[in-house]
Amino acid sequence: MFKTVEWKNNRVVMIDQRLLPNKEVYNTYIDYKQVAGAIKDMVVRGAPAIGVSAAMGVALGGLSIKTEKPAEFKKALEKVTKLLASTRPTAVNLFWGIERMKAVVAAHPNASVAELKKLLVEEARRIHQEDIDICRRIGRHGGALLKDKFHVLTHCNAGALATAGYGTALGVIRGAIERGRNIKVYADETRPFLQGARLTAWELMKDKIDVTLITDNMAGYMMQQGLINAVVVGADRIAANGDTANKIGTYSVAVLAKEHKIPFYVAAPLSTIDIKKKDGSLIPIEERGCEEVTHLRGVAVAPKGVKVRNPAFDVTPNRLVTAIITEKGVVRPPYRQNIKALFQD
Ligand code: MRU
Repeated sequence: MFKTVEWKNNRVVMIDQRLLPNKEVYNTYIDYKQVAGAIKDMVVRGAPAIGVSAAMGVALGGLSIKTEKPAEFKKALEKVTKLLASTRPTAVNLFWGIERMKAVVAAHPNASVAELKKLLVEEARRIHQEDIDICRRIGRHGGALLKDKFHVLTHCNAGALATAGYGTALGVIRGAIERGRNIKVYADETRPFLQGARLTAWELMKDKIDVTLITDNMAGYMMQQGLINAVVVGADRIAANGDTANKIGTYSVAVLAKEHKIPFYVAAPLSTIDIKKKDGSLIPIEERGCEEVTHLRGVAVAPKGVKVRNPAFDVTPNRLVTAIITEKGVVRPPYRQNIKALFQD
């Protein structure tokens, strides 16, 4: 089985997701700046995987700081966390991972630099392992919602490739299959970056899970034909009221699901919930380069100079979300109240 991101001999190793499904190449990073570049350039992507990678980037950055003085070390570490935090704006897990790393330093005010370095590496490895465990718990809770012979539509890639392993939305599908349920997956190709076609189809086929690839504009037809029983997607940031930012096109799928009375589930760890954002309008949406829209794998599919928009995410209003599946269980409306309760015990 492939590893999305791994800490190995004080280096960070990542599968290069830009090259999938054609080539399975692993990049090794020795420097935090390279890790920041890998997040920005989509070598690694998917909210939880970005969070884990950022934490490992902080650990790498910490190891590279050459001072014995804790105060100087902390100052230099600020530069590291600042760069990593500037890579992508929407997935809150990035900031969550960095904050976890900062908190370790803050919790050990009398530690030596050598001790702080060790603590940072340990924390990054813990975040990685926790993410796998969390995904499995999401899979156990969510798997129960998918009945035998269900056809499930998913958008983008919220699988093992988007996490430290197992996945959130695809974790729910894996959880249902582990319960002995026969599940058929429909994967939206997910224009413009094609995470569905390139990544979801690849990892599900590797796991021998029944997957059918469709273009994004086929989802409505499939629903109208009665071919979809449930939609399960991941999330990049969930506001305190349950509004959910996820890959561009998720909102359209949610509207379609509502029209066809199909349950629309969001699967995400608590680290994706941004309790400080009271609703989805406050979530920053990343706007990416034009070439992703005008070109397909380097070949122009639009006239040169055409005006382009490329928002990478959209926000699905909470009223369209049937339930949010977390490691602590399945949350249903009223979201503001029930999400708050998740953080209280
Ligand atoms: O731009 P990406 O590929 O990082 O976007 C990823 C998504 O939108 C995923 O659905 C989301 O991060 C959930 S991953 C478990």
